Amino acid sequence: MTARIDYRVAPGGRLTGQARVPGDKSISHRSVMLGSIAEGTTRVTGFLEAEDALATLAAFRQMGVTIEGPEQGRLSIQGVGLHGLRASAEPLYLGNSGTSMRLLCGLLAGQSFDSILTGDRSLSKRPMRRVTEPLRQMGARIETTAEGTAPIHIHGGQDLHGIDYTMPVASAQVKSCLLLAGLYAEGETCVTEPAPTRDHTERMLQGFGYEVRRKESRVCLRGGGRLSATSLDVPADISSAAFFLVGASIAPGSELLLEHVGINPTRTGVIDILRLMGAKIDVLNSRVVGGEPVADLKVLSSSLKGIHIPDRLVPLAIDEFPVLFVAAACAEGETVLTGAAELRVKESDRIQVMADGLKILGVEARPTPDGIVIQGGRIGGGRVVSHGDHRIAMAFAIAALRSDDTIEIEDCANVNTSFPGFAELAQSLGLQVEVLTDE
Ligand code: S3P
Repeated sequence: MTARIDYRVAPGGRLTGQARVPGDKSISHRSVMLGSIAEGTTRVTGFLEAEDALATLAAFRQMGVTIEGPEQGRLSIQGVGLHGLRASAEPLYLGNSGTSMRLLCGLLAGQSFDSILTGDRSLSKRPMRRVTEPLRQMGARIETTAEGTAPIHIHGGQDLHGIDYTMPVASAQVKSCLLLAGLYAEGETCVTEPAPTRDHTERMLQGFGYEVRRKESRVCLRGGGRLSATSLDVPADISSAAFFLVGASIAPGSELLLEHVGINPTRTGVIDILRLMGAKIDVLNSRVVGGEPVADLKVLSSSLKGIHIPDRLVPLAIDEFPVLFVAAACAEGETVLTGAAELRVKESDRIQVMADGLKILGVEARPTPDGIVIQGGRIGGGRVVSHGDHRIAMAFAIAALRSDDTIEIEDCANVNTSFPGFAELAQSLGLQVEVLTDE
C-alpha cells in the first residue's frame, strides 16, 4: 500500500518555464500489449513509468514475456508472438487501471489458457459489461460478478469469430478490446463508433505491420495475421499537459512551453475547448513521431469566458474535464457541459466529486445527470477530497493558482497512477504545492 498523501497548495502564483510531462498513458499500455504479442524485440522510449502502465507491464511479465526496463522510459520487449503467452500462476492484479482491464479482456479472450483479472476498490466498481457482452457475442466465455464487475474470469480455449459491432457509447477501450480479440478471431471484426474516440490502437497495430481498415466511423481487421516488432517513441501525455494548459491560462503572468506533447486529433479536445473559452495556446513544431502527431504547446495567460461545450468535443477531451471545470470556475459567466454521462463511471464519479469540491471552495457548480453547470467567479480556500482519483487531485491543486486562500486536497497518492512527479514539476513551474505524507 502506498502511504497516504495529501497536498497543501498556497494560493496564487504563476506558471513559467518549459517542461516535458511524462509519457502518454494510453500509448504506453498499448506499447507493452502489442510489443508482447509481436514477433521480435520491440524497443520503446518515453514509456510512462506510472502505476497504471506498470500494472500492464507486470501482467505481461506474469504471462511469461521478458521485458527489460523501464529505465528512464526505455523498455525492450521480447515479443512472444500472438500465441506465445503463457497462463499466469496468479490472478493479474491491475490496480486502478481501467484501460489494462478492458483491453486485456479482449486480448485474453482468445488465448488457450484461463485468466483472472482483479483490481483495486475503484476498478472493481467500474462497468465491464460494455466489453464482456460483445466478447461473448464473439464466442468468448467470461464471468464477472452479478453486477458485471471485476474480478473477471476469462476461460481460454474458445474459438472466437469476428462480429460487426456498433458501440452504444463512444469508448476507445471497448473498441480496442474488440480489435485485440479480433486478432484471434476467425474472419473480420468491425467496430463502429457513435463519435470519434482515440485511435492509438489502430495506429499502433499498423505500426506493427497489421492491416487495419477504416471507413468513416467503422474500423475493421481480419484475424490470424502477425505483428512484427518495431520501435516506438511515446509522446508526452496531453492529458497530463492539460493541468498546465489550464494552470497557465488561469494564472495571470504565466508563459509556459510544454514540449513533445502528443496532439493526435482524437485527443486534442482540451485545446479546442480552452480556445473556445479564449485561451491563448499555440501549437508549434508539429511533427509525426512513430505514427503519432506531436508538437510543442505554448500557453499564455488570458481571461477566459464561459461556454456551452460542444457535445462533439466530449469524447475528445474525456479525461480532461476535472481540470476544465477549474477553468470554468475561473471564467467569466456560465459554462455548461452536456453529453458526458461517462464521467460518472471513471476512476470516480467525476461530475459529483468535482461539483462537491468546487462547492466547498465557494464555486457555484450544479451537477446534472450527464454534465454540469458552473458559474465562474471567485475561488476560495478549503479542504477537498479526491476520492483517490488522480485527475481530481491534480485539478484542485491547479485551482489554487486562482484561489484566495490555501487549498488542501486529501488522498493524492493515486496521482502516481498517471503522473509521477506531478507535485515536484508543478512546483518547479511556479505552483506552491507541498506534499504531506502520514509517515
Ligand atoms: C482510454 C480511453 C478512455 C479514457 C481512458 C483511457 C484508452 O476511456 O478515459 O483514460 O486508453 O483507451 P473510454 O474509452 O472508456 O472513454
